[in-house]
Amino acid sequence: MNPSAALSAFQARLKSTQILCTTDDMAPFLCDWRKRYFGNALAVLLPSNTPELAEIVQICTEFGIALVPQGGNTGLCGGATPDQSGTQVVVSLKRMNQIRGLDIDNQTITVEAGCVLQTIQEAAAAQDLLFPLSLGAEGSCCIGGNLATNAGGTNVLRYGNARDLCLGLEVVTAQGKIWNGLRGLRKDNTGYDLRDLFIGSEGTLGIITAAVLKLYPMPVCQWTSLVATPSIPATIQLLNLFKQKATTLLTGFEMMTAESLALTEKQFPQMRNPLGENPPFTVLIEFSDHESEAHARNLVESILAEALELGIASNAIIASSIAQANTFWQMREHITLAQAQEGANLKHDITIPLSALDNFISATDAVLRAKYPQVRIINFGHLGDGNLHYNVAAPVGTDSAIFNQANETSVHDIIYGMVEKFGGSISAEHGIGQLKLHDLRAHKGAIAHDLMATIKTALDPLNILNPNKVLPTNAN
Ligand code: FAD
Ligand code: MLT
Ligand code: ZN
Repeated sequence: MNPSAALSAFQARLKSTQILCTTDDMAPFLCDWRKRYFGNALAVLLPSNTPELAEIVQICTEFGIALVPQGGNTGLCGGATPDQSGTQVVVSLKRMNQIRGLDIDNQTITVEAGCVLQTIQEAAAAQDLLFPLSLGAEGSCCIGGNLATNAGGTNVLRYGNARDLCLGLEVVTAQGKIWNGLRGLRKDNTGYDLRDLFIGSEGTLGIITAAVLKLYPMPVCQWTSLVATPSIPATIQLLNLFKQKATTLLTGFEMMTAESLALTEKQFPQMRNPLGENPPFTVLIEFSDHESEAHARNLVESILAEALELGIASNAIIASSIAQANTFWQMREHITLAQAQEGANLKHDITIPLSALDNFISATDAVLRAKYPQVRIINFGHLGDGNLHYNVAAPVGTDSAIFNQANETSVHDIIYGMVEKFGGSISAEHGIGQLKLHDLRAHKGAIAHDLMATIKTALDPLNILNPNKVLPTNAN
């Protein structure tokens, strides 16, 4: 490894404005959104096109320098934060943010990795088309990061996750070669699916530089409602009632517990639950119709009336304007911000089969509370996908940093042990990064973990692409 020779080579190849080296300039790139991981770096590099990025990787290969790709830096598992050695480079894709084209007939858009997700949604909407990936961080996360983490969000129920929305990729390999797989094809059975290999690999197999994404017809209207439910089984019955009666018109089904909304209101007093006193569960339901406002409204009203009659819902409000619908969504999306403001907490982004969810929650709560009676459990999530954000916050009045340091491993072990028992996954949508690096082998099993390590070694034999993320450096 020769960091100073590598730095000189970067300086010879890039403009000075594309290389950040001072502590102040680099600071925003060296810690994660939750401020849980802090790293150092030799430099932060800002390439403006794919050939430039390929040359950066070639220099890294030549001088043995590891690189950490970064998009919007909103990831929740520390995947975009370099280690503390000061020898790695962060490669920010932010300046590679062109929309290369929108094909109306093919219903696809081709974008560079640094495009902010919201910009892509807006470009599609300008043509009356929908790019359905949607998440709380959409104003700052980038599509390269979304694909690298296989992000989920609030529309997965209807449209799938980032993987399902991507038809083609352009990738810079660990050897600094450019793979052009930017095909907008819905069918392409030509051997191994390289696109699917890079999606969800969190920057450990290649650097995504551009993508072809699927677009959909824009719905003519959306109805957003908040529904109070008494229990998880009732909430699942409500979900299935909507699936049965509304089928593909159901586009969002988000669950928030009373505790999660109380925390949100504590941190953001303007975020009050329009249903009044928080019921045990508040469900945000979004319904997107391609026919007419009246058709949608009638259907939503009749399903909600049936739910109230069946006793699986105790109260419901349908937003009367786009502005009110936005306040419903803001309440949902502020839970993450409220958690961040309240203090560090132990996050678990898990999926459980819906049929096992109620038993999972009761059993896990019981084991946790037996060991930590005062702990706060802040649960919410994309219930329509069986994706629960099961979060544990220190008891009120306890220093959260001290609590977390002492108990993090034990809390994770309890929750992940239960996830295994109930047939779930330890990462639904946020990825592995550094946070779950040492939990993955036990979860995937030795064979799957070893196969992953074999793929990593084959594609990145020098281990220069985001080392020690997803797989520990010594995994093979
Ligand atoms: P970064 O954080 O920059 O990077 C994430 C990982 O991808 C890192 O490992 C990085 O090395 C790698 N990477 C980044 N760009 C590239 C590239 N071009 N090529 C290869 N590797 C790359 N996530 C969800 O899934 N669903 C949600 O609902 C959701 N809601 C969120 C709400 C808030 C308020 C916040 C802060 C985060 C939320 N997230 C959610 C997490 C986060 O926004 C997503 O993981 C997002 O996809 C990360 O995109 P990014 O551009 O910020 O990636
Ligand atoms: C969400 O669903 O809001 C995100 O995944 C973020 C989080 O888990 O806090
Ligand atoms: Zn989520």
